[in-house]
Amino acid sequence: MNLVDLMINRRSVRKYSSEPVTDEQIKNIVTAALLSPSGHSKYPCEYIVVKDRETLEKMSHCRVGVAKMLNNASCAIVTIADRDKADTVVEDSAISMMNMHLMAANLGLGSCWIQLRLREAEDGRNSEEYIRELLNIPQNYLCQAILSIGNLEKPPKPHDLSKLNFDKIHSEQF
Ligand SMILES: Cc1cc2nc3c(=O)[nH]c(=O)nc-3n(C[C@H](O)[C@H](O)[C@H](O)COP(=O)(O)O)c2cc1C
Repeated sequence: MNLVDLMINRRSVRKYSSEPVTDEQIKNIVTAALLSPSGHSKYPCEYIVVKDRETLEKMSHCRVGVAKMLNNASCAIVTIADRDKADTVVEDSAISMMNMHLMAANLGLGSCWIQLRLREAEDGRNSEEYIRELLNIPQNYLCQAILSIGNLEKPPKPHDLSKLNFDKIHSEQF
C-alpha cells in the first residue's frame, strides 16, 4: 500500500479480536518509533511495551471513559521522553506515536492513541502520574500517550477524500 492509501485507511480502532499481536509485529512497531525524527537529534523517547493483562486492566483506568480499549488490546506501548535530554519531548513523543500508529495500520493491526498529558485518571490523579506510578517511570520523563494495539475485528471505514476541507489550505498568506 502506498503512503496516501495507508493514511486513508488508518483509523483509530478501539475494538480488537482476541488474536494476539506477535512479537515480530511489536518489533516492527517499535522500529517505526525508533526511526522517528528528533529535534537536534536528541532522541529523548523511550517506550514501554505492556502485554500483561492485569497491568493493561489497571492502565484502562488512566482516563475517564476513553481508555477502556486497553481491556481488550493485545498490548500497549507507552511513549515516555526524558526531559533532561531535550526540550522537544512533546513533539518527539507525538511523532513517535504517529509513526507507531501508522506502522500498526501498515501491518493490518488496529491501534488507538490514548492521551495522558494534560488529562485526568478515573481516581482524580492526573493521567501521567497514574501511569508513572503504575509502571515505575522516573519523574523527569514526560508520559505523553499510550498506543493500544490489537488485531482487527473488522476492517475500519477508510477516510473519504471528498470530505477533506481544503479551505484550511492558505496560499502565500492567511
Ligand atoms: C493527540 C490525540 C489524543 C487522542 N486521545 C485519544 C484518547 O485518549 N482516547 C481515544 O479513544 N482516542 C484518542 N485519540 C484518537 C482521536 O479520537 C481520533 O484520532 C479522531 O477521532 C479521528 O479519528 P481517526 O483517527 O479514526 O481518523 C487521540 C488522538 C490524538 C491525535
